[in-house]
Amino acid sequence: MNKAKILRMLKNSDGFVSGEIFCKELNISRQAIWKNINSLKKDGYDIESVKGKGYILRSDEGILGSAGITSLLEGKAIRYRIEYTESIDSTNKALIKKAYTTDAENMVLIADHQTSGLGRRGRSFYSPAKESIYMSILLRPKIDPGSVSCITLVAAMAVCKALKKSLNKSGYKEAAKRIGIKWPNDIWIGEKKLCGILTQMSCESDYITYVVTGIGINVNNKVFSDELKSIATSLFMETNQNFDRQSIIADILEAFAEYYDIFLADKSMKSLMVDYDDNLINKSKEVLVYGGLVEEIEPDSVRRGKARGIDIDGALLVDMYDTKKTERIIAGEVSIRNT
Ligand code: BTN
Repeated sequence: MNKAKILRMLKNSDGFVSGEIFCKELNISRQAIWKNINSLKKDGYDIESVKGKGYILRSDEGILGSAGITSLLEGKAIRYRIEYTESIDSTNKALIKKAYTTDAENMVLIADHQTSGLGRRGRSFYSPAKESIYMSILLRPKIDPGSVSCITLVAAMAVCKALKKSLNKSGYKEAAKRIGIKWPNDIWIGEKKLCGILTQMSCESDYITYVVTGIGINVNNKVFSDELKSIATSLFMETNQNFDRQSIIADILEAFAEYYDIFLADKSMKSLMVDYDDNLINKSKEVLVYGGLVEEIEPDSVRRGKARGIDIDGALLVDMYDTKKTERIIAGEVSIRNT
């Protein structure tokens, strides 16, 4: 993608990049360069052009787009094809449609805004414009459908790694230390939720047609409704600083590709479980195990235990107080008891 390559060259240069250098490096005409530069300007990039000198990138703050993200992809993440749309009902829903109508895979759909973002258990996911990350990845793994739940855990590890990296890079080392995974796949900072992940799949007997993993992260959100503010937070709210969504997405994809390949090779969390547990905020904590939908259960059906960590299938191992046995928690929700 020439547009992404031009952007990468502009970003990596301290000064002007001449038309001649672009032509030589990319083997395209001056007219093609001019067209791509104009398209970048339309996306919001502040690019100055000076006769005899070439082009210089003055600012790319707050921009979200396919070229910007593609220009940042490194390592194993170059396998992903990035598509961007300003507003959509839900990136998960759109990729599921793509999955049925094309044979695309490793496609990543990113939106600046969702009009009906999906959460787990049929809930909706609050998706305002210009501040958060909404991204979905279309995969076609050749694994047992029973192992698909591990992909959500793999995504949680990738998000956790990328967010820690961003916070550390900006000097927020204490905030980075407070980030962790709430089993199975929420990312929390302290006592509040920063990110949710929703994996949806379709299969025919033991053959997986598609897996779509959607990730929603509160990045530069300044306010939440009264209902949300006691349970949700954003990177901005934790640091008073805006973060570059494009770099975070690129870092997530790089980490996701690495972890995903390890998971595919093992077809389990065998090689990843130590790393996962290192980031698990429930580990060694007292947890409440709910049998079904949290809202629907009777308070006395809640059971208590101490979480140990995950097993190779991604189940949470909990030493239950009532049965005095270690149980594998597969479905249901686990929440940390406030002490
Ligand atoms: C949850 O916490 O309940 C899961 C939330 C998942 C939200 C993401 S945002 C991108 C993708 N598109 C959706 O409609 N949902 C997921």
